[in-house]
Amino acid sequence: MEEKDKEIIKESWKKIEPNKNEIGLLFYANLFKEEPTVATLFRNPISSQSRKLMQVLGILVEGLNNINELIPPLQNLGKRHKEYGVENFHYPIVGRCLLQSIQEYLGQDFSDEARQAWTKVYGIAASVMTSDHN
Ligand code: HEM
Repeated sequence: MEEKDKEIIKESWKKIEPNKNEIGLLFYANLFKEEPTVATLFRNPISSQSRKLMQVLGILVEGLNNINELIPPLQNLGKRHKEYGVENFHYPIVGRCLLQSIQEYLGQDFSDEARQAWTKVYGIAASVMTSDHN
């Protein structure tokens, strides 16, 4: 990731963070509409699930400059996802839906370049989570 992307991510997080509860709930609503089959994988209340997801996004933003330190926790998170029944093909669906939901909620406040930078971050996280070298 380039420095510019990291700056863009940090700036856009300032807009996302104050709205993270609403954005998280919008994301799950959109996800279950787009891909109803994944709804049964979620056993815990969506409110708490949404909080956990947004918390990890915050951790990713804070860890951008030391991305290597995020690899072991993300690999573990990926292993747990397998146990939850998540399959690799779900990752791009979830990523697209997450970014669309941020866009839908923030409108003009989420620029094209912010969306592109987030696509990179999500892609990195997803590839670490789905790598089987662990
Ligand atoms: C970068 C991508 C993702 C991140 C950061 C993420 C984050 C999280 C976190 C923090 C949890 C809480 C439980 C734990 O820590 O083990 C969780 C649970 C879960 N996630 Fe993800 N997730 C991602 C991708 C996905 C994808 C692609 C799916 C596919 C549908 C998914 C489905 C689930 C399910 C089913 C649970 C368990 C919920 C439950 O027990 O009720 N996640 N996720």
